[in-house]
Amino acid sequence: MKTIQVDLGERSYDICIHSDMAYLMNQVIKLLKHRRILIVTDHIVDELYGKYLASHFHKEMVEVYRYIMPAGEQSKQLDTVQNIYALLLKEQFDKEDLILAFGGGVVGDTAGFAASTYQRGIGFIQLPTTLLSQVDSSVGGKVGVNCKMVKNAIGSFYQPEMVCIYPQFLKTLDKRQLRNGMAEIVVHSIIASKDLFVYVEKYTESILECDTAVMEYLIEANCRIKRDVVLRDEYDQGTRAILNFGHTIGHAVEACSDYTLLHGEAVSVGIAGAIELAVYLKMLSLDEYERIKNLLVKIGLPLKVKGISVNDIYMKMLNDKKRRKEEFRFVLPHTIGEVSVITYKDKEVLFQILKRLID
Ligand SMILES: NC(=O)c1ccc[n+]([C@@H]2O[C@H](COP(=O)([O-])OP(=O)(O)OC[C@H]3O[C@@H](n4cnc5c(N)ncnc54)[C@H](O)[C@@H]3O)[C@@H](O)[C@H]2O)c1
Repeated sequence: MKTIQVDLGERSYDICIHSDMAYLMNQVIKLLKHRRILIVTDHIVDELYGKYLASHFHKEMVEVYRYIMPAGEQSKQLDTVQNIYALLLKEQFDKEDLILAFGGGVVGDTAGFAASTYQRGIGFIQLPTTLLSQVDSSVGGKVGVNCKMVKNAIGSFYQPEMVCIYPQFLKTLDKRQLRNGMAEIVVHSIIASKDLFVYVEKYTESILECDTAVMEYLIEANCRIKRDVVLRDEYDQGTRAILNFGHTIGHAVEACSDYTLLHGEAVSVGIAGAIELAVYLKMLSLDEYERIKNLLVKIGLPLKVKGISVNDIYMKMLNDKKRRKEEFRFVLPHTIGEVSVITYKDKEVLFQILKRLID
């Protein structure tokens, strides 16, 4: 078992990584003041694990309520949040009760947002089930929903009471979703840890086969990196921006693909663009540039995208809510494990770089 403490004063919590689900469930039960809980999940996770989870709670005499949303990004919206509020009101949940967000990042973000706003905030626990959510989205307290096709347009910062991670959930995740989560792991390694990068290079096959020991190491290392970034800048006012490595172009590519590309796939293309720029600006060596590209390819992530134009990507980048004035904010590596945030606006150079990302 590994426990990582996230020390944020009265908003502190533990990230518990454990291969014994019963142990994790008992940690959850310890936090319940009244023996009842609302599990928010999606229909795929519910089919796979819903009965198993509920039966454990029932055995411990915990009353279980469930809200099951359709799986997928389209459920991450205010209608779903309204449905969760309605259930909470109907069952008279109050500030002493808890919500358990049981699923990937979509469930975590949506249930977390409902928790942050119901009665001005009730507690929630993250029980993430995808690689992306186990290494990234469940930690750090960003919760929210999409609105009018704008990703994460509505949201808040709201830390969970605990994050429980059971790596064996990943055994049922399909390979594309696993690769999707790997993109954020590559991001974390490039912004903060060459050791992690080397580990991923060495154990790529074992990771893609979901070897339990390897996954436990990987989850712990990534949660520590995310935790450290969040501790320095909980409310995303400065240094937390380094988590956006690969995302300046990545977000635009994701939107241009009409979300047919998964987030991690688009970020992978975004990483390819960011390191092109870092080489152009003589920040990154060609050796490391090649090494990063080779790792993305070895994982099975794309470096290029089909069917969209340079101009479409550029226009989407201009519309990104994180853009400052006429300049773009890029996170660029000096070396693997160390990055800087820069602003850049040379349209001609950016067009050249974007051109190289089109298949
Ligand atoms: N809050 C944050 O800091 C943060 C960070 C990164 C991403 N996000 C958000 O996370 C979301 C993406 O999360 P995601 O990639 O986990 O996607 P997701 O939640 O949509 O899950 C992907 C798919 O995997 C299925 N699934 C989940 N667990 C499974 C399991 N164990 N076995 C089999 N199938 C399983 C789901 O039902 C879904 O169909 C996006 O909305 C993104 O904006 C949030």
